[in-house]
Amino acid sequence: MQKEDLAFFQKWFSDYITDFYSSDPFVRENIELKAEHTKKVCENILLLAKAEKLGENESLLAETVALFHDLGRFEQFLKYKTFKDSESENHAVLGVKILKKAGILSHLVPEESDIILKAVEYHNLMEIPEATSNFPELLFYSRLIRDADKLDILRIICEDYEEEDKCPNPALELYLPDTPEYSKAVIEDIMNNRMAKIKDVKNRNDVKLLRLTWVFDINFPETFSLLKETRYLEIIMSSLPKTEEIRKVIRHLEAYLEKQLLKKQSC
Ligand SMILES: [Fe+2]
Repeated sequence: MQKEDLAFFQKWFSDYITDFYSSDPFVRENIELKAEHTKKVCENILLLAKAEKLGENESLLAETVALFHDLGRFEQFLKYKTFKDSESENHAVLGVKILKKAGILSHLVPEESDIILKAVEYHNLMEIPEATSNFPELLFYSRLIRDADKLDILRIICEDYEEEDKCPNPALELYLPDTPEYSKAVIEDIMNNRMAKIKDVKNRNDVKLLRLTWVFDINFPETFSLLKETRYLEIIMSSLPKTEEIRKVIRHLEAYLEKQLLKKQSC
């Protein structure tokens, strides 16, 4: 892949999303949020690419995956006014359909366009499909985008929590109620170092806990360093109810993160 290819994709993306800017402030806010998210995920993936010492071509491919990973979000929000895939459609699959229909990847070599399409498709799955382990390159880029994406979703959430004067964006909290309890199943997942399941998420505390369980699906040492540096996890943790059970969960997560950082240092 060449620099010119990425420049062409960036121009195409920027023209594509222009059509989605609506005069409705609610739609506009969320379209802007996804445009900014895409930009930040591109930056994140380049940080990870650098830490992984990728060459120029590999970095261009990684940035293209990041550029298109949430392409489906724009049509999804305009059509359904929600980012909830369960109440609309799978935005990753939608993004792949849009890319195929536009035909813009056709001048890349098939290996590259396949990686882009599959990595986009897999970015929001609970797990990368098992069979991907037979395709090390695809597995690598799928892992890269999942880490870069998670890093920026955590940024968006933390910024929303920290802007106290502003009403929280309900789309970020999946339109769930702000009630004081939390799901036992999610707590159990954390204590067993597992990602929580969306079906167990019933209120905003569960959403926060679910996002904390993403640490169990982080693939690159640099992502753990960036998480520590940005303090996103700390901000989410400090917004949880101050119960003994939650304190125990936080201690467990902190110990897990510390272990991952030590692993990086010993490499
Ligand atoms: Fe996404």
